[in-house]
Amino acid sequence: KSLRIAIIGAGLAGISAARTLTGKGHSVELYDKSRGSGGRMSSKRTEFGELDMGAQYFTARDPRFRHELQRWLDAGWAAEWSPKMYRFDDVGLAASPDEQTRYVGSPRMTALSRHLLVGLELQSGVRIVELQRNDEQHWNLMDDGGRAYGPFDRVLVATPAPQAVPLLKASPNLAQAAAQVRVAPCWTVALSFSQRLATDVEACFVRHGPLDWVSRHLSKPGRSGADSWIIQSSADWATEHEATGANDVTQQLTEAFAQVLGLNLPEPDQRMAHRWLYARSVEPCAWGALAAPELGLYACGDWCLSGRIEGAWLSGRQAADSVV
Ligand code: FAD
Ligand code: NAI
Repeated sequence: KSLRIAIIGAGLAGISAARTLTGKGHSVELYDKSRGSGGRMSSKRTEFGELDMGAQYFTARDPRFRHELQRWLDAGWAAEWSPKMYRFDDVGLAASPDEQTRYVGSPRMTALSRHLLVGLELQSGVRIVELQRNDEQHWNLMDDGGRAYGPFDRVLVATPAPQAVPLLKASPNLAQAAAQVRVAPCWTVALSFSQRLATDVEACFVRHGPLDWVSRHLSKPGRSGADSWIIQSSADWATEHEATGANDVTQQLTEAFAQVLGLNLPEPDQRMAHRWLYARSVEPCAWGALAAPELGLYACGDWCLSGRIEGAWLSGRQAADSVV
């Protein structure tokens, strides 16, 4: 039987669930509070190019995800990224080459979500605040302006765990499970320089000071524009600086960046800061997805699996496969 299904959240988990359910012949509607799509796998358009402000790359370890990835590679939506990898710790900066194959959306991270959404029905700019059971069988969704959507036979919640808790309250088990998941923030700063910085570093795992990660935009396939850099704070630093203003954060993280590269930085031509409140699951779970089939209510997201892009995609697919 073809069901009418709502999915809240159009990140990779929601998109993966939507594609799986559509493939089974169901009628699917996606809702996302954000104007864009792709969730935490986001890129921001600037005069210096489209910069990846969220997820930086992904790895593929599960055979089902590798199979899907091959499709994306064949279509040119994703490409391999092999940066000159470094690490920075209390001893300093050192090359840190490895054998790991890494991938990015091409020519930007959101290329993936944009292509995967083709043919799907997405309502963006709609924040769902409540799920209402309108009879024994059906759900209505309420947005923050009091507008109702529905009726739906099934609802999948594909938001980060803290945002899923209020939506899952009809099932105390699911709501409690989501409430247990601790999610840490992350500050991301983008800096663009019209003159190329004198360094060989293209990506760096940082284990000392406020930062966690540094990457060079131009080292990723298909990117162009200025010498832009993405710098991301550690979860601890972001937790301590959750309420700090964007200008202060930019200044402190830029100083840390200069220290990692060991450079006196020229004045950047552009600075941009973004705070992700729910960036990273502190201890990702291994549930795969959550289901209350008696209610027709399901939950998925990176927090149900590995806290990574691969986990988000697999979790969405698992939730979709569990819909009865
Ligand atoms: P999301 O992408 O968060 O999607 C959830 C969606 O739900 C969002 O679009 C949001 O707008 C929407 N939403 C929330 N509440 C509501 C509501 N009430 N109503 C309507 N819509 C709602 N992963 C990697 O594998 N590699 C990396 O290098 C990497 N780096 C990262 C760096 C940063 C700074 C961040 C933040 C994350 C990073 N990740 C990385 C993690 C990766 O981005 C996530 O695992 C993945 O994108 C999560 O997908 P998702 O669909 O589960 O959630
Ligand atoms: P991966 O296999 O490249 O890295 C996993 C971890 O191994 C890295 O975080 C790093 O600590 C270490 N590592 C790997 N290669 C290294 C090298 N050459 N030198 C030094 N250390 C190395 O990627 P995977 O498993 O797909 O992980 C996803 C990445 O996404 C992680 O780096 C994680 O930190 C990041 N992430 C960031 C978030 C944020 O909020 N900033 C949220 C979720 C994920």
